[in-house]
Amino acid sequence: MTLEDLKFDIREICNNYKKDFIGGWITGDGPIPCHILFIGEAPGKTEVEQGKPFVGVAGKNFEYYLNMIDVKRSSIRITNTCYFRPIKVKETKNGKKSISNRTPKVSEINLFNDILDKEISLADPKLIVTLGNIPLKRLTNFKSIGQCHGEIIFNNYINKYIFPMYHPSALTYNRNDTFKNMYLQDWLKLKETLDKI
Ligand code: URA
Repeated sequence: MTLEDLKFDIREICNNYKKDFIGGWITGDGPIPCHILFIGEAPGKTEVEQGKPFVGVAGKNFEYYLNMIDVKRSSIRITNTCYFRPIKVKETKNGKKSISNRTPKVSEINLFNDILDKEISLADPKLIVTLGNIPLKRLTNFKSIGQCHGEIIFNNYINKYIFPMYHPSALTYNRNDTFKNMYLQDWLKLKETLDKI
């Protein structure tokens, strides 16, 4: 199984998916193998347009903290739990269509279980950082990021250490100083962890 095989399989899954609306798809980005693999939820509009994860608004927050702990984006791999962009299509009053992102359903995440496992095994990272609840639930038994952010968890099934973090878009919803400070502390803990491994 190569990266090209993975890309082929992702395209097949996305092209054959007819159960709900999707707005394009992307693959992961960054070196293989890699030291650290970040896993997000699903791409948004900007990510599909540019063909890369975390290049929109959440990506800007993400890169700000990455730079702060002196990690270069080019040295890490980033991927998603769901490789397509799940969308909601609504008809507005004047008959136009409005498109927005939606959270991927469990059944949609499950479509990519094998793909994500294979990407993890190809990337063979020392540490996996999950961003938000969706990759957390996929890779650990925790149900909520509030219970375990900034801790190190071992996943016996894939034999990897997991470091759960809030999704960078949480900063957009929780702009209070307490949250920002907690989020900053998690990045500093990540830096400490990376210095040790
Ligand atoms: N949010 C995600 O979870 N993934 C992306 O690629 C972009 C935004």
